Amino acid sequence: MNIAHFDVDSNIRSFLHDDIFNYSVQENKKSLLYDCISIKSASIINAKTLKNFPQLKLIVTRTVGTNHIDTNACRDKGISLYHIIDYGSYNIAEHALALLLAGMHNIVFCQEELHHGIFSYKNWLGISFKGKVVGVLGTGRIGLEFIKRIRVFADTIIAYDVYQNEKAAKDLNFSYVKFEEFIERTDIMSIHAPQTEETTHIINGNVMKKMKKGSIIINTSRGGLIDTAELVKQAEKFSFLGLDVLEDEESFSISHPLLTCKNVILTPHVAFFTDDSVKNIANETYVCIQNYLNNDNTGKVLLV
Ligand SMILES: NC(=O)c1ccc[n+]([C@@H]2O[C@H](COP(=O)([O-])OP(=O)(O)OC[C@H]3O[C@@H](n4cnc5c(N)ncnc54)[C@H](O)[C@@H]3O)[C@@H](O)[C@H]2O)c1
Repeated sequence: MNIAHFDVDSNIRSFLHDDIFNYSVQENKKSLLYDCISIKSASIINAKTLKNFPQLKLIVTRTVGTNHIDTNACRDKGISLYHIIDYGSYNIAEHALALLLAGMHNIVFCQEELHHGIFSYKNWLGISFKGKVVGVLGTGRIGLEFIKRIRVFADTIIAYDVYQNEKAAKDLNFSYVKFEEFIERTDIMSIHAPQTEETTHIINGNVMKKMKKGSIIINTSRGGLIDTAELVKQAEKFSFLGLDVLEDEESFSISHPLLTCKNVILTPHVAFFTDDSVKNIANETYVCIQNYLNNDNTGKVLLV
């Protein structure tokens, strides 16, 4: 099988064989005769980008999320699509926790003052978990890893998911509630649902209005779950926002409106990216390719 990997950074490079490109598929302007390509979320797969791969049979996205791929376009061309189901969910959960603790204890926010020579606690009242309700949106692999970790800090954990994992709720001592109640009771929200038609802008302007003043949102899932324009308008009602993902990551620039909000901690979609995960991602990419060759549907998201 003729294989190429796109969006390859220097950390994963040594674990991948075959042809390697450090750029995304839309930056490729040539017709390339590969049977299989692996990509990351920076590569947008649609009818236009697929035109340059006339021989393609298999796409492996080295991601859990698949919202950067037009599955109908793949189906039309008879291309199979595999994603990596899990390369270490705990890595993303740990990053969500890092964003949360960094914000609650002002670790990022106080840096600017220190760099101006001011060594004073007075502007930096922290936030304690005591008495706060942690709300987890999406209790799949990453959501549950997050709950296992936040359990050490939090008194009360509630969750909202279209699929309720009652065993996990019992084992990890949290309770499922309806969406309205979830929104109204949550002090600290961590988002772990995938981006689908149903979840796009699930946190919209009306939902933000119903959330508690001084509440917190952490999003390590996909930017499109939150209506960014509304978030910018309502940012001041939140204690702070910790975002690893944005709606428009590809067009990020110094003029991004969220950079005008003083209470936002942004990271550049790095939650997945650890010394542990890069090796797992590379291994799992080859597992997907092997599964395809063996007609094994593990990891397949589209049946063609
Ligand atoms: N920031 C990063 O680096 C990074 C890395 C990996 C994954 N992610 C994101 O995290 C997401 C979650 O990953 P996962 O492995 O936990 O996925 P998962 O499939 O194990 O869990 C997702 C959960 O969301 C729930 N869900 C689906 N639709 C919902 C809805 N409408 N309302 C509420 N809940 C809903 C599902 O029932 C499921 O329990 C991925 O889809 C991906 O977008 C981000």
